[in-house]
Amino acid sequence: MSNPLEFILATLCLLASTGFGSGADSAGFSYYGNPATMGPTPDKWGDNPLWRTCAVGREQSPIDVDTKTVTLVINDIFGLDTSYFPENGSFFINSANIIQVKLNGEGRLKIQEKTYFLQQFHFHAPSEHTIDGVRFPLEMHLVHKSETGELAVIGIPFAYGEKNEFLATFWDKLPLLTDSNPSINLTYVDVREPNVHLRPAYARYNGSLTTPPCTEGVTWSVILGEANTVSKKQVETYNKRLPYPNARPSQPLNDREVKRNVFHGPRRKPHV
Ligand SMILES: *[C@@H]1O[C@H](CO)[C@@H](O)[C@H](O)[C@H]1NC(C)=O
Ligand SMILES: *[C@@H]1O[C@H](CO)[C@@H](O)[C@H](O)[C@H]1NC(C)=O
Ligand SMILES: *[C@@H]1O[C@H](CO)[C@@H](O)[C@H](O)[C@H]1NC(C)=O
Ligand SMILES: [Zn+2]
Repeated sequence: MSNPLEFILATLCLLASTGFGSGADSAGFSYYGNPATMGPTPDKWGDNPLWRTCAVGREQSPIDVDTKTVTLVINDIFGLDTSYFPENGSFFINSANIIQVKLNGEGRLKIQEKTYFLQQFHFHAPSEHTIDGVRFPLEMHLVHKSETGELAVIGIPFAYGEKNEFLATFWDKLPLLTDSNPSINLTYVDVREPNVHLRPAYARYNGSLTTPPCTEGVTWSVILGEANTVSKKQVETYNKRLPYPNARPSQPLNDREVKRNVFHGPRRKPHV
């Protein structure tokens, strides 16, 4: 932190946050235009010696997926190889002011003979990944971990449209998450609702965590198209509780390849 006033402000806010519930704790980093979580904005994350990868990493996330330059993978699977089940979950707002549902690791995602177990999902508003330069109002990240600790994340951008039935199963509980009620047990979370495993097309690339410490080695699958929707009202519910953006800007692709599976099924409804 170069500016001494900024340092004092951040220190005060860190002190001020002590004693509050998890929702008010500072994760030590922030986003542009987000005064709720104090600490450096994304361009300064890498100044922290523990977060150097945020600045020097060559395989960072998120990225813009340019659907005209992706490599088509002819022999790939038609959809993502997932098997998810209804589970109990814990709904809370984490220390970085990101809303999250923690699961028991029962759901599975298989990528090239390796199985990754679904740990949690959380939300970014607006979306972190952009597709052909288009940013979406919301993006869900399904975070999976293998037995040896490797991460695989599915990113699902939501476009404005119909109410999202999956979000509707717990979204109305968002205003109930307060400092005195920091988490809510959900008794039936079924991530099959958004049908991520049926989505026809996705982009696969090697990237990183989108929050500090920006660790690389994360296998990303970004769902393409606008088939997943969120209503304006659902985004309003989100913004009432968390009125600040939490999207890291697009990172350079460098010499990475972005692959896309080839889908032979029926055409999706055109976006209107
Ligand atoms: C959630 O936990 C309760 C209590 O342990 C159990 O009865 C219920 O079957 C669980 N629900 C799911 C969907 O696993
Ligand atoms: C929520 O679930 C956790 C873990 O199963 C349990 O320890 C806790 O008592 C539950 N909280 C409520 C309010 O039911
Ligand atoms: C990701 O990196 C691994 C290991 O270097 C490589 O085998 C794989 O093809 C890469 N994936 C993509 C989508 O480029
Ligand atoms: Zn995320």
